[in-house]
Amino acid sequence: MSRTARVRGIRIAYDDDGGGSLPVVLLHGFPFNRSMWREQSAALAGDYRVITPDLRGHGETTVTDEPATMEEMADDLASLLDELNINRAIVGGLSMGGYVTLAFCRKYPERVSGVVLADTRATPDNEEGRRTREETARRALAEGMGPIADAMTPKLLAPATLERRPETVARVREMILGTEPRGAAAALRGMALRRDQTDLLPRLQVPALVIVGGEDSLTPPSDAEAMHGLMTDSRLVTLEGAGHASNLERADEFGRALREFLDGLGD
Ligand code: MLT
Repeated sequence: MSRTARVRGIRIAYDDDGGGSLPVVLLHGFPFNRSMWREQSAALAGDYRVITPDLRGHGETTVTDEPATMEEMADDLASLLDELNINRAIVGGLSMGGYVTLAFCRKYPERVSGVVLADTRATPDNEEGRRTREETARRALAEGMGPIADAMTPKLLAPATLERRPETVARVREMILGTEPRGAAAALRGMALRRDQTDLLPRLQVPALVIVGGEDSLTPPSDAEAMHGLMTDSRLVTLEGAGHASNLERADEFGRALREFLDGLGD
């Protein structure tokens, strides 16, 4: 069910679906919105409470102009969970959502009972990456999201998806074009500021699921393997034939991997 909450001076839009005692939070990537979790939410909602917020600057959540750091977005999530009277949750995210998940784990370890890291990495941007983010932010502000959609879509999806799944291509483009340029710029500048979270991984005290598209060229399987190798209780799932937007490209398999992980937490 679609809802909104006022926290920290902004309005957060989120979906809160399903039942069950175990809350699961799924955080979308950049520059997407919570609709990207539609299939996984439906797959889990029979047994789990699935909460999918639009992160600051995305979807129907308030846009702010200053860099939207991963810590800021983690604080937004903590306040949303307070509002919902949820003390602990499984927290997961894809790509930028994964960066926010790691920031949340560092700031609020006691609030996390399991972690899902999909098509993401623990390492920060290098100098060139930060420069490109700033150029992209300026371009979004000057020209809108059209050029960003043109440039990003081929990188987000595997070649086979681009060739054979026009509906997935259209969905990705639509999400990108629906993002406010100011929100995208704030997130790009926030991502450029993110810290190295590598040292956090061995200290995570909760089970983790790492998922990656076998053809993810933005955060390739080697990034997923590196994170998996550093955590003490981690499972790695590679979705063959999927690119960076693996949950859209292999929606059912992604949902199954999530369900198996969540079902196993009760053991
Ligand atoms: C995402 O999908 O969230 C972005 O590709 C993350 C990034 O640009 O690092």
